[in-house]
Amino acid sequence: MLPSCRNVSKICLKVDQLAKVPKCHRRLISSKEAIEKEKKYAAHNYHPLPVVLTKGEGVFVWDVEGKRYFDYLSGYSANNFGHCHPKIVKAMQEQCGKLHHVSRAFYSDVLGEYAETITRIFGYDKLMPMNTGVEGGDTAIKLARKWAYKKKKVPKNEAKTVFCEDNFWGRSLAAISSSTDPLSFENYGPYMPGFSIIPYDDLTALEKALQDPLVCSFMVEPIQGEAGIRVPTHGYLRGVRELCSKYDVLWIADEIQTGLGRTGKRLAVDYEGVRPDILVLGKALGGGVYPVSACLADDDIMLQVEPGTHGSTFGGSPLGARVAMAALEVLETEGMIQNSFKMGEIFRKELSSKLNKPTIIEVRGKGLLNAIVVNRNCANAWDICLRMKEKGLIAKHTHEDIIRFAPPLCINEEQMRESIEIIVSTINSIAPAK
Ligand SMILES: Cc1ncc(COP(=O)(O)O)c(C=O)c1O
Repeated sequence: MLPSCRNVSKICLKVDQLAKVPKCHRRLISSKEAIEKEKKYAAHNYHPLPVVLTKGEGVFVWDVEGKRYFDYLSGYSANNFGHCHPKIVKAMQEQCGKLHHVSRAFYSDVLGEYAETITRIFGYDKLMPMNTGVEGGDTAIKLARKWAYKKKKVPKNEAKTVFCEDNFWGRSLAAISSSTDPLSFENYGPYMPGFSIIPYDDLTALEKALQDPLVCSFMVEPIQGEAGIRVPTHGYLRGVRELCSKYDVLWIADEIQTGLGRTGKRLAVDYEGVRPDILVLGKALGGGVYPVSACLADDDIMLQVEPGTHGSTFGGSPLGARVAMAALEVLETEGMIQNSFKMGEIFRKELSSKLNKPTIIEVRGKGLLNAIVVNRNCANAWDICLRMKEKGLIAKHTHEDIIRFAPPLCINEEQMRESIEIIVSTINSIAPAK
């Protein structure tokens, strides 16, 4: 709908006024002003920590007043390779100045090279390129449904996908239809049919669910991220592989958060040496500078999708493809995976031994995807995040009592020890509950 004439003139006036102010005379915005403006003009679907960032480099970000912070969120694991990695920024700038987007109505001289690179690294026949994580998950389910009707011979429109309790794969209508978190799904119905839910880390429940011949896929995170970094029992992923093969069901691994070195291996499924049928990647695949996601699968699945039956305007654009190639090169050549493993070991060992026990119930995670569980009787996770911010480290809670710690994978040992000191001194200064 067009805005009313009154609104148009109001907007035009503001843009016009802004244009008259020379750039060098534009006043720097304070944190307070930036927060007020965002609250007034941007939707309130997030509750950010009160910090206004203006610059990032490596593991650090700076606020508009010039204060430096360790970034322990990494843009929800999109910035695995640190802020403004020179190779990724250069790839983006160069490709952007040459050819950024053509759509897949035409070929480009980049997509084939990118598809070859990513399929070789992860060992699949083909890539389906997309933009965001939720689009990757949605595409994976579509791929499985197509395969179900054309190969498994499931009766038309009856295919089912099984998910786990507390799954998180984004905010689209399909994603919230499989969610068990009322915060995600309430007041957004009606929901998509064909989805069922079983408990996480429960092979008995999985076997029972897969016996239904209408089930075509099981979609699961190898470590549940938004649920609070829930690590399944060792052997679970191998069991998932075996059961999916036994019942001719496609295993979709959502490695959007866990993939690309975040958990100390290239993929989290590598901890058990197993290979999903469909692998979904996102977040860090775009190096934190551009949204890039991907489904990887073999030809017997991927080639079921015919021209014109699925697509995305920006998916596979030269810009996204070049950025993803740069991100993968950084992942593979700069020791990020090994560093993530090593720094994660130090992080969990130090926190487990140093944090006050009644306040913190558990330290858990793998590589640099970690979390602490806060004892609600002793402290409040939001309050801890605010206090850590004051001391120069920003992290965000997930749910009321869990704080996720996921710094860029390039963090060095000195930076790791300095940030551990901030976390420990903040939490241990909270007076234990009487
Ligand atoms: C495991 C997982 N899958 C999918 C998504 C959705 O990604 P996006 O927000 O890019 O759509 C997320 C986002 O946090 C995620 O953690």
